[in-house]
Amino acid sequence: MTSKLLWVSFILAALTLSVTFSLQPDEQKVLLVSFDGFRWDYLYRFPTPHFHYLMKYGVHVEQVTNIFITKTYPNHYTLVTGLFAENHGIVANDMFDPILNKSFSLDNMNIYDSEFWEEATPIWITNQRAGHASGAAMWPGADVKIHESFPTHYMPYNESVSFEDRVAKIIEWFTSKEPINLGLLYWEDPDDMGHHLGPDSPLMGPVISDIDNKLGYLIQMLKKAELWNVVNLIITSDHGMTQCSEERVIELDQYLDKDHYILIDKSPVAAILPKDGKFDEVYEALARAHPNLTVYKKEEIPERWHYRYNSRIQPIIAVADEGWYILQNKSDDFLLGNHGYDNALAEMHPIFLAYGPAFRKNFTKEAMNSTDLYPLLCHLLNITAMPHNGSFWNVQDLLSSATPRAIPSTQSTTLLRGSDKPREYEQEESYAYFIGVSLGSVIVVVFFIVFVKHLIRSQIPALPDMHAEISQPLLQA
Ligand SMILES: *[C@@H]1O[C@H](CO)[C@@H](O)[C@H](O)[C@H]1NC(C)=O
Ligand SMILES: *[C@@H]1O[C@H](CO)[C@@H](O)[C@H](O)[C@H]1NC(C)=O
Ligand SMILES: *[C@@H]1O[C@H](CO)[C@@H](O)[C@H](O)[C@H]1NC(C)=O
Ligand SMILES: *[C@@H]1O[C@H](CO)[C@@H](O)[C@H](O)[C@H]1NC(C)=O
Ligand SMILES: *[C@@H]1O[C@H](CO)[C@@H](O)[C@H](O)[C@H]1NC(C)=O
Ligand SMILES: *[C@@H]1O[C@H](CO)[C@@H](O)[C@H](O)[C@H]1NC(C)=O
Ligand SMILES: *[C@@H]1O[C@H](CO)[C@@H](O)[C@H](O)[C@H]1NC(C)=O
Ligand SMILES: *[C@@H]1O[C@H](CO)[C@@H](O)[C@H](O)[C@H]1NC(C)=O
Ligand SMILES: [Zn+2]
Repeated sequence: MTSKLLWVSFILAALTLSVTFSLQPDEQKVLLVSFDGFRWDYLYRFPTPHFHYLMKYGVHVEQVTNIFITKTYPNHYTLVTGLFAENHGIVANDMFDPILNKSFSLDNMNIYDSEFWEEATPIWITNQRAGHASGAAMWPGADVKIHESFPTHYMPYNESVSFEDRVAKIIEWFTSKEPINLGLLYWEDPDDMGHHLGPDSPLMGPVISDIDNKLGYLIQMLKKAELWNVVNLIITSDHGMTQCSEERVIELDQYLDKDHYILIDKSPVAAILPKDGKFDEVYEALARAHPNLTVYKKEEIPERWHYRYNSRIQPIIAVADEGWYILQNKSDDFLLGNHGYDNALAEMHPIFLAYGPAFRKNFTKEAMNSTDLYPLLCHLLNITAMPHNGSFWNVQDLLSSATPRAIPSTQSTTLLRGSDKPREYEQEESYAYFIGVSLGSVIVVVFFIVFVKHLIRSQIPALPDMHAEISQPLLQA
């Protein structure tokens, strides 16, 4: 009888110990979702119960500094590479590369030339090289062949495909026989409507409400597929949106001879390629054109934008003040909302929420850089990060203490950049281990105490009755 009990307690204690250990390393699944143009404060301006549900049970970063220029393609490529635009090469939605003598343009979906993308390696490829599978539902660039690869699964870009169909694909890939560990999901709104209505429009209410319902649908489908609490869900965006007005327009034709330059990219960062011999003339004219237009020679572009060292950045850029719109002339398209401005402006910042086994609950962080998402993703997926401009250190507080802490390879710039950090890192590593072991040991000791107590009690059966006898007179008194 006694030895049986002893065995049971031992097995239970061993189990508790192994459970404690299994909380340590475990490869995570990640679903990264981008709702294009979801400005950080839409969460406070409109009722968004599903977003708030994630905030309450997950993490929320209030200010995410994205990269310059605050446009769709540059920022989506940063989310999956951790690089500034000058380093990943997608410097705008509309580009000209004088070395390749080729153009890239979002307007007519002329974006499929691999050479534009191959200055970087997106995370889906690194993930696959590590033996995992990735799946992308309309993520910008994910249907382009990059370094001879596509995502394991992907949908060719088609904006007419419904959100529900995109979600269905993601679920299918996460639950297939060879499941993906990384899913990427993209939706065009609220960017589209933000451009047309302007973010200050009260009509943005229903638009944001629709996005909230879409998030609700995604949560519901993840629950139905038993992926909720399994997949780490990250909801973010590429940029915000600011209100424009026809009263704040800068018309280039008023200041420049249009035969003297080629306009590669328009508003709010005009990328200007002067024709041969016309550089000074174009620069001088632009520099004194308008008080709300700041003009830079390429080599003078502010350091903090990390927007200089790439041949696709044109010799002159002209950056409009927030809310100002650059047009060639009044017959150009004008939109009531726009983005692309200085990435220091709060209105350009996107949302960031995350929920899942790796993340803390009900935790709000003030700020992060969007370049930090990449090393965070690599950490969760247990893959070695390519050189990047982010820092895992700056965002590791988003993770709950029980999450895996894979040691990044020394090739990772995360370690190289913060060369004073590795020791601290190791200490934390062994600290987590120490907690695991001591917790397990404490449980074993407690088990023994309970067990011994139980033994003593079972050998003195009269004890409870004695207690009763003693207490009764006291109660009567
Ligand atoms: C992380 O990947 C390495 C191989 O790159 C593997 O040895 C290790 O077991 C993985 N860690 C986890 C927690 O799966
Ligand atoms: C660049 O390409 C255009 C056609 O797109 C061609 O006319 C031009 O000659 C090319 N320039 C050079 C320097 O190869
Ligand atoms: C895009 O998707 C829509 C809706 O599913 C479909 O009707 C259309 O044929 C698709 N277009 C292409 C080019 O595949
Ligand atoms: C536009 O320029 C004027 C004059 O310099 C300045 O007062 C105003 O603040 C500028 N607007 C913005 C949005 O920066
Ligand atoms: C505006 O510019 C476009 C492109 O250069 C040109 O085709 C158009 O004729 C111009 N319109 C006016 C009113 O100058
Ligand atoms: C979340 O945290 C806040 C304070 O940080 C607290 O007031 C609130 O009750 C918490 N909510 C939940 C659901 O734990
Ligand atoms: C963002 O990056 C800059 C430059 O690397 C750094 O100084 C800053 O502290 C970072 N911001 C946050 C919130 O981590
Ligand atoms: C960004 O990262 C790339 C790749 O590691 C590096 O070459 C570049 O110098 C970094 N930029 C900055 C500003 O640190
Ligand atoms: Zn966008």
